[in-house]
Amino acid sequence: MDYSVKNLVINNCGISYIDEGPENGKIILFVHGFPFNKFMWKRQVEVLKATCRVIAYDVRGHGNSGAGSEEFSIDLFVRDLIGLMDALSIEKVCLCGLSMGGYIALNAAVNHPGRFSSLVLCDTTCVADSPEGKEKRMKAIENIETNGVETYAVESIRKLFSPDSLSERRDDVAVIKEMIMNTSTVVLGKTLRALAGREETCGRLKEIDAPVLVMAGEEDTITPPSAAMQIHEQIKGSSLHIVEKAGHISNMENPISFNHRLMQFVLETISH
Ligand code: MLT
Repeated sequence: MDYSVKNLVINNCGISYIDEGPENGKIILFVHGFPFNKFMWKRQVEVLKATCRVIAYDVRGHGNSGAGSEEFSIDLFVRDLIGLMDALSIEKVCLCGLSMGGYIALNAAVNHPGRFSSLVLCDTTCVADSPEGKEKRMKAIENIETNGVETYAVESIRKLFSPDSLSERRDDVAVIKEMIMNTSTVVLGKTLRALAGREETCGRLKEIDAPVLVMAGEEDTITPPSAAMQIHEQIKGSSLHIVEKAGHISNMENPISFNHRLMQFVLETISH
């Protein structure tokens, strides 16, 4: 499947994206997790593009986007997201983010409420890193610098996928491993620092009044279903879907369950 990959300079950084489906349709914009890229959404883009305009972009430093010269932060990633929407003259989208993409989506939703008609928050959390969590990120940076990106990729995929996915979805595992290995040591370090420095958004979830779907892989050990439940309980009227037979990358590990619920949500909220 071929996509026409496009590029725009946003906040002095080249941002790579795909833009598929009918120009005048409802727009769904996807934000990937760390350290992946826009093609992690391939199975969602394929299904949704018949109904919606579907945009997926590479967060700076990832995939084919540039890295720019600034230190990374979730705030900067949100400025890029809003900058991309502005550059494309898009006022409002349904925003769907997984994990780091969810941190970006939550931050964007509370700080730019008028720009999002609905939200899909996947395998993510509103909680900031604990001191131990931050420490682990600093250790990961040291390990990447000492042992290289491949070792980091091998260790990461064991935690990202459920045990069954690791043995049964080898192609997906290989795709994710390659995405990690194509991310530079510098970008891994800069993004790990940004993730460690992010602020919690739990205290602001009550401000969100757009329709929200929260999803999590039932075997996600990085941001477990309890984290999804916490978000769901704080956002009035939100829906929760636990993706069976999936770990942290629920959209790839069980695309049938994920897409079915996503499509239902998109159709339910199409007029927003
Ligand atoms: C992700 O998938 O984006 C990461 O697991 C997020 C994180 O490390 O907090």
